[in-house]
Amino acid sequence: MIELEDISFGYTSNPILRNISLKIDNNELISLTGPNGSGKTTLALLLAGILEPQGGEVVIDSIRSNEYERFEEKRKDIGIVFENPDNQFITTSVERELAFGLENMGVEREEMKRRVEESIKRFSLEELRFRAPHTLSGGEKQKVAIASILIFNPRYLILDEPTAFLDPCSRRMVLDLIQNLKGTISILLISHFPEEIMLGDTIYFLRDGKLDKQEREKVVLRSQSLDFLHFLNERGISQYLYPPEPEMLCDTIEAFKKKKSTRV
Ligand SMILES: Nc1ncnc2c1ncn2[C@@H]1O[C@H](COP(=O)(O)OP(=O)(O)OP(=O)(O)O)[C@@H](O)[C@H]1O
Ligand SMILES: [Mg+2]
Repeated sequence: MIELEDISFGYTSNPILRNISLKIDNNELISLTGPNGSGKTTLALLLAGILEPQGGEVVIDSIRSNEYERFEEKRKDIGIVFENPDNQFITTSVERELAFGLENMGVEREEMKRRVEESIKRFSLEELRFRAPHTLSGGEKQKVAIASILIFNPRYLILDEPTAFLDPCSRRMVLDLIQNLKGTISILLISHFPEEIMLGDTIYFLRDGKLDKQEREKVVLRSQSLDFLHFLNERGISQYLYPPEPEMLCDTIEAFKKKKSTRV
């Protein structure tokens, strides 16, 4: 379990987060949304121990952030994936990308090979394994980015707007992937997209430095009607909504591609 206890933080004298408490239970998926600049990424960086809180504490599996050495070790249980997949690659092939971190950690060669093969199978990367990461589609890139973090077997995964840069088809690919991960690892999913936010067992809104908790059932209920749009609108996130049917748009693009390829 990972917890923020009464956290406060500001980059300057202006506080961004004020007395925030948040808990992620084992294998739970928490989704977090809120307007631009409300502090979602800041909260993720605090949770991952990359930033230090000015008030309150982070607790990972009962190890508190003031137990410096033990906490530093514990931080390795958290994997984080950011929105722009292009900033996350270092090597020249998908296979090497998967192996890179393990190599750096000094994982023994046979074990490394085994884990790379396992990851390729798990994420269906067989056809992509020798491709250069920069030649992949946005969705494929994010899939590789997520796979290259999960290869460390973290207990916690933070996904900070993992589909923000993606077209609707790639978004669907990543959404399916998150859906499959759900229940197998603890996840904090930061997003502006309703269908992603809805994946959360618990949903949080961050605004004016405060967290507002919403039970998933309530949001699902609201999503049945236009109320849901007002609901998001009230929280200043309506401007991020896709045209209402991203799935339809995606199918249309696929149909269009098919039509084009059969004509050639
Ligand atoms: N390194 C930094 N130094 C100073 N201010 C920062 C720094 N990083 C972020 N901020 C400011 O802190 C506030 C919160 O930023 P943060 O990136 O956490 O918001 P966010 O909710 O993730 O926004 P977005 O939806 O755009 O990703 C913003 O006003 C931002 O300008
Ligand atoms: Mg952010």
